Amino acid sequence: MADVDEDLLTTLIDTLDLERKVALLTGAGFWSTRAEPLIGLRAMVLSDGPSGVRGTSFDERDPSLSLPSSSALGATWDPAAARRYGLALGAEARRKGADVLLGPTVNLHRSPYGGRHFEALSEDPLLTGELAAAYVAGVQAHGVAATPKHYVGNDAETERFTVDNRIGDRALHEVYLAAFEPAVVRAGAWLVMSAYNAVNGPTMSENPLLAEPLTGEWGFDGVVVSDWGAVRTTEPSARAEQHLVMPGPAGVWGAALVDAVRDGRVDGSVVDDKVRRLLRLAARVGALDPAGRPAGCGAPGGPPGAPGATAAPDAGPGTPDPAAARELAAAGTVLLRNTGELPWSPGGPASVAVLGHNAVLARTQGGGSATVRPAGVVTPLDGLRDALGADRVTHRLGARVAEGVQPFAPGTMTNPVTGGPGLRAVFRDAGGAALRAEDRTGASLIWMGAEIPDGTDHLEISLRWAAPAGTHRIGAAAVGRIILDADGRRVLDADGVLTGDHGPGAAIFEAPSVSAEVGTDGPVDLVLRFRPSGFEAGLPLAALVVGEEIVVADPAAEIAAAAALAAGSEAAVVVVGTSDRIESEGFDRGTLALPGHQDALVRAVAAANPRTVVVVNAGAPVLLPWRDEVAAVLVGWFGGERFGEALADVLLGVREPGGRLPTTWPSTGTERSVLPVTPADGALHYTEGIHVGHRNWLRHGETPAYPFGHGLGYTGWRLDGARLAADGAIEVALTNTGDRPGRQVVQAYLSRPDSAVERPVRWLAGWAVVDAGPGPATARIRLAPGALRHRDGDRWVTEPGAFTLDVGFSVTDLRARLRVPA
Ligand code: BGC
Repeated sequence: MADVDEDLLTTLIDTLDLERKVALLTGAGFWSTRAEPLIGLRAMVLSDGPSGVRGTSFDERDPSLSLPSSSALGATWDPAAARRYGLALGAEARRKGADVLLGPTVNLHRSPYGGRHFEALSEDPLLTGELAAAYVAGVQAHGVAATPKHYVGNDAETERFTVDNRIGDRALHEVYLAAFEPAVVRAGAWLVMSAYNAVNGPTMSENPLLAEPLTGEWGFDGVVVSDWGAVRTTEPSARAEQHLVMPGPAGVWGAALVDAVRDGRVDGSVVDDKVRRLLRLAARVGALDPAGRPAGCGAPGGPPGAPGATAAPDAGPGTPDPAAARELAAAGTVLLRNTGELPWSPGGPASVAVLGHNAVLARTQGGGSATVRPAGVVTPLDGLRDALGADRVTHRLGARVAEGVQPFAPGTMTNPVTGGPGLRAVFRDAGGAALRAEDRTGASLIWMGAEIPDGTDHLEISLRWAAPAGTHRIGAAAVGRIILDADGRRVLDADGVLTGDHGPGAAIFEAPSVSAEVGTDGPVDLVLRFRPSGFEAGLPLAALVVGEEIVVADPAAEIAAAAALAAGSEAAVVVVGTSDRIESEGFDRGTLALPGHQDALVRAVAAANPRTVVVVNAGAPVLLPWRDEVAAVLVGWFGGERFGEALADVLLGVREPGGRLPTTWPSTGTERSVLPVTPADGALHYTEGIHVGHRNWLRHGETPAYPFGHGLGYTGWRLDGARLAADGAIEVALTNTGDRPGRQVVQAYLSRPDSAVERPVRWLAGWAVVDAGPGPATARIRLAPGALRHRDGDRWVTEPGAFTLDVGFSVTDLRARLRVPA
């Protein structure tokens, strides 16, 4: 590779004995690789990803930018937005000292039942691939490595460590691998993460797909890092193109791999190649300094000519982009329906009832490893109060969404020791002696490994909670024993126990709640003692949420009260959505319906006020059975830390809801086109083959609630005609028929009814994002390089003859037709 001095790497590799080489191939800890001072190699820090840079801890005192989740980015359809997203994360990684960002997630929205879809971009391989490539280029422009993951087939979470996804050869190449190819080949990602699951037999950390196409046909010269804990064997994984085992320091390579090389069971050149890749990565991110002088590679912006290392004119390396979270959230917001209600006239309605649990407990990011701790979050209620004035905005819960104990809001806690905001956490030994104390501002607390002092027996959390007068259920979500005193009185002594089958991480992200009823007539002093169950087994992990469990005693009365508030207001905004028990990592969804009584809430509010706007706060499709009864529906996804501001911008028309659906939204969730995600006997068969997502809906002739590519924006558009330009681009004449500037995403779909091979009914071949004022505009669409090809055995083939190209505003809203090649 031109960007790295390969001869230097050879010299450095020759300096190391086998033990030292092998030692480098397993992490030093949870989030870092090993240093090797002998060759000037420092440890490299890896961080999740993909919508923020968490760094090495979950500590709110080291906050992270929280961007809208990936499905919102997918909805922008805009490679320029994806590059900006990547640039913002690259700068953030630099600021937080991370060398490697564990993202983007390049798996597909194969089925809306997949629980982790908020982390992925789209159901379409081309849309996913183009956005992922732009994201990678943005991150790497800062000299930070991006890591497309999880290669490949991690499209659902059920039995995720073991499921064998049976995927036909054409689907594998034309759909699932195709989604990865642009990020790897064109953007030149410096790492790829192998997935937990198996594909067609072997688990992905030892699967032949790592060699072909990844390191072979695609020429990937970077590092394949395992998903955390995914490498389970020594020899098969070492012989595969699996290069780095994470996390460390324990692992199945180490001494066992040294022995395997010594005994001739694994070739020494295999180890050398892995070490070379790791050092190449180190050179690229600036972690290799053999001569004690600044490394020649991986400087901010990257060396000239390095893949993905073009200078970033739009954001200098290390420069934060504070507006990114707000603007990207608006750009990804999809207006599904609008009867003329939106945008509100300047100044907005005189009074607005903002209803729903997610209006105040907004989901601004997905759960699981994607979680970061932002410095603050603007909820929809905050955003609307700021924009309209608090006196014009009222709120009512309407229906509960989040179940279990939710963290106390930062502004409601006082640290009894400092008198400032927050709480005090003290690590105590078995005799009760304090080993260390921390003053914290957040009530979601996670400590791992060395963050927990040796000898810790339990944690003691103390705070004064500004409780509104009344009865509250106070407690914790945690795995372990919880003892709670309120105003000096013991109110709770209980165990949080995980039931059923759980993977690692469940103690953090799926912890059960224990709580007690506490009556207060004002602020209450709380002291909570917590002994994590994992301590018994020597597991250094303590995770708990301290807070309140919301109870709605009479759901019908709560809905009626919300509807009454709506009736007395000029307009109503109902924020509906999912909770972290529905969309997170490690499990899939059992239903696509909104949880709790939210459908009844929307219907009651819409009946009470014809100016009802519904905002959907979900990372993936949900069912909207009332969609034709409300004035407008916006999908705000998990909108990042400035979700509420972006929402206010969109409602008031300050910004266009610029998004288009990156994934089909079903009507009932029981349609044939909606694929199941539950394996049978350990295997999940991708029987739909190449007909994924909208291709499946077209094949079955089923009508979804909203099709792929749909989104309205705030102006009208006419498509006047399309032609093939001399340079091969599709030139589309449009008119913005409204009286305000707007955005349109002009989409081009290919079809080939008389093909000699099986084809999708039609497939996305290219698109263009057009921003234009009223009047005529032109879109130029370049068809993707591989748009016409199909996979035949181990080669790509393009059928001779003409294909049909339809151009329009969604996969089912097609307005012009051409033949290509002409
Ligand atoms: C997830 C990865 C993540 C890793 C490290 C795994 O469980 O699947 O996406 O990067 O953990 O947190």
